[in-house]
Amino acid sequence: MLRTALSTVLLAVLTPSTPMGDTLYPHLGQLGLNVTHYDLRLTVPTPGTPDLRSDTTLTLHAERDLPDVQLDYSGPAILNVTWNGQPVPHRRAADKLIIPLPLPAGQDVRLRVTAAGPAGGVPDPTLNITLGWQSVPATPTQPGANFTFSEPDGTRSFIPCNDHPADPATFTTTLTVPRGVTAVAGGTRLADHPNLDGTHSVTYTLTTPIPTYALGISVGTLDTVRRPDLRIGDQHVTLTDYFPTSIPDTVRAPYARTGDILTALSDWFGPYPFSTYGSVVVTPDLPALETATLSTMPVRSSRERVIVHEIAHQWFGNAVPLGDWSDTWLNEGFATYAELLWTQAQGQDTAPLLRGWRDRLRPGTRPLTATTPAQMFDATAYARGALALHALRTQIGDDAFRAFLHTYARTRAGQPTRTADMLHLTRTQLGPEAATLLENWITQPELP
Ligand code: TRP
Ligand code: ZN
Repeated sequence: MLRTALSTVLLAVLTPSTPMGDTLYPHLGQLGLNVTHYDLRLTVPTPGTPDLRSDTTLTLHAERDLPDVQLDYSGPAILNVTWNGQPVPHRRAADKLIIPLPLPAGQDVRLRVTAAGPAGGVPDPTLNITLGWQSVPATPTQPGANFTFSEPDGTRSFIPCNDHPADPATFTTTLTVPRGVTAVAGGTRLADHPNLDGTHSVTYTLTTPIPTYALGISVGTLDTVRRPDLRIGDQHVTLTDYFPTSIPDTVRAPYARTGDILTALSDWFGPYPFSTYGSVVVTPDLPALETATLSTMPVRSSRERVIVHEIAHQWFGNAVPLGDWSDTWLNEGFATYAELLWTQAQGQDTAPLLRGWRDRLRPGTRPLTATTPAQMFDATAYARGALALHALRTQIGDDAFRAFLHTYARTRAGQPTRTADMLHLTRTQLGPEAATLLENWITQPELP
């Protein structure tokens, strides 16, 4: 009896849960559905246009009896759906692809979906942009390009997926593009082979689970800049950046610091969660995005601070996924605080950064957990999140703070993480005083 109860508790702790029913995006994801792997093959026949063909095989696992499978999908017309190789019916409704077949608890299925047509166009609730598959038309000075910009829910614009960070997965991505066009995706490159029809296909594999929005893909006329391999302790990381050929050296220059930044942040955060890293510069005016192992960097964001910020997200956001979109400060606060850690590692004055964060909050702030989508990427998520971590560090000291960050990154990797999980670790590892301090920073209406 006791034994049964204990093993139930252990199971609950050890099984990565998928607590969907997001407080800000209740329609995203299917509760009880766990997608463990996406094998996606995308064909981009004419880079720069939205035209896309996709062939996606999802490995699905049911954590409870599911009456049907409901994936997030707002992409091109579906051509065919198979369930363990057998054709099955499907229907589309309100940004969902529904397969009306039961999936019993504990059962796995391979679901293959093919689609073709123009992709893109999930509206962002806060920015005046569309999320997901991006198309950059050719100009007289620049060939056409495509890339992904998906946070929070743009991946559903080009593949069917369980589009919530609480269900992270591994990815294999094969991109087929015209010869002479560079195609790159998150992960390690496995193969690049020519096809008879004048295209080539390149495959990338990501074996560390990441949230769906963190899948980065870029297609265009790009220069590939391979940096010297990085050794951090017994870790080996390959570094490659990608720049549109038209991009000047001044934009490329700051990326030369990538290896030093990765090394400095590994000291604070623990082992880098992947085996490869780099940036791909894109020309549209968007925010930067921490796409896993391959940050998506607009020209305007090609500055050291932003490079540091996106590298920090590889730990906080990508390896440690959010459990709920209201907790974005766990991503943005940690990534913003990394800017100070890097500044300090350079022997530079950190006072201007701290002052800048306080200044950004002068117009007003709020408790750290967001209550509307508009708050997810506001000044509070970034600046107050960073100041909260600084207050914690100041109280407990550098050694305890470093140990805390290492434990957080290690124990929460692959685990959907909410503010309460972070507070729980604070209490168990650092004690009630540290937890109270952090709790004040999290919950008080005004800055503590
Ligand atoms: N997470 C990105 C970063 O800080 C920024 C970002 C992604 C963003 N999506 C957004 C900012 C939407 C504003 C609105 O690195
Ligand atoms: Zn960020």
